[in-house]
Amino acid sequence: MQLIDGKKIAAEIKKELAAKSAKLIDDGNRTPHLAAVLVGSDPASESYVGSKERACKEVGFISTVYRLEENTTEKQLLDIVHFLNSDDDVDGFIVQLPLPKHISVDKVIEAIDPSKDVDGFHPVSLGKMVVGNPLFLPATPYGIIQMIERCGIETDGKHCVVLGRSNIVGTPISIMLSRKSKPGNCTVTLCHTRTKNMKELAATADILIAAIGQPGYVTADMVKPGAVVIDVGIHRLLDGSEKGYHIVGDVKFDEVAPKCSYITPVPGGVGVMTVVSLLMNTMKAYDTKFNK
Ligand code: GUN
Repeated sequence: MQLIDGKKIAAEIKKELAAKSAKLIDDGNRTPHLAAVLVGSDPASESYVGSKERACKEVGFISTVYRLEENTTEKQLLDIVHFLNSDDDVDGFIVQLPLPKHISVDKVIEAIDPSKDVDGFHPVSLGKMVVGNPLFLPATPYGIIQMIERCGIETDGKHCVVLGRSNIVGTPISIMLSRKSKPGNCTVTLCHTRTKNMKELAATADILIAAIGQPGYVTADMVKPGAVVIDVGIHRLLDGSEKGYHIVGDVKFDEVAPKCSYITPVPGGVGVMTVVSLLMNTMKAYDTKFNK
């Protein structure tokens, strides 16, 4: 069994981005700039936005965070989105999800200029991905693709089973891995809440992607010997430790790992890659603008 070390792969990519950004600045160009909008004070969202700020610093990008009160109106948020769309100093930006219930996520995402949609959530970004002409790939699936590619895992003709059909992970990764591309060319089964025989299907996977949102859902009997297992789950389980919690994924790592050819750990797997994907997309947004 080989561990897919998200931290190590993320560090490699950050090094590449830092070198590129330093060269741009040395050559007298503007510094790449990622902005984030955070509405309310959800602790998980605070933590994600904090890691995005730190990652920007590490690679020499500018990061700006707009922190808005929980009771911000949809109109106020849309005004900020329009402002960021027209700010030439901002290459890309994200609106951290989830949003308070009184704000329409679809309206907000659709208001983002697709050329700055570094989360890859806008229908234009998703449409381009579906037709095989991607601009910004959604961050988590993009991170998974990077891990597969950089570990030299063969995907051609493999059976990939994806557990969970969210717009952010399950649906896009199932499309990406079924495209005629490298990595890609998989036969994909996308499982969801109405799937009748999820456990049996999972056990037929050469590549199993767990994005179901349930801690420890994938057990050893659901994994084919030699499978590649990618765990997208990040759950805080409260415990009596000093920190008060520990992090687990959708996979019961200890019992599943010995059966796998490759597996991602949690933490230190897909989660760290998501942040790096956002940086890669920001650099892409910068390059695209630059080459216009
Ligand atoms: N909330 C959880 N994951 C994400 C993400 O990748 N992007 C945004 N904007 N919000 C999130």
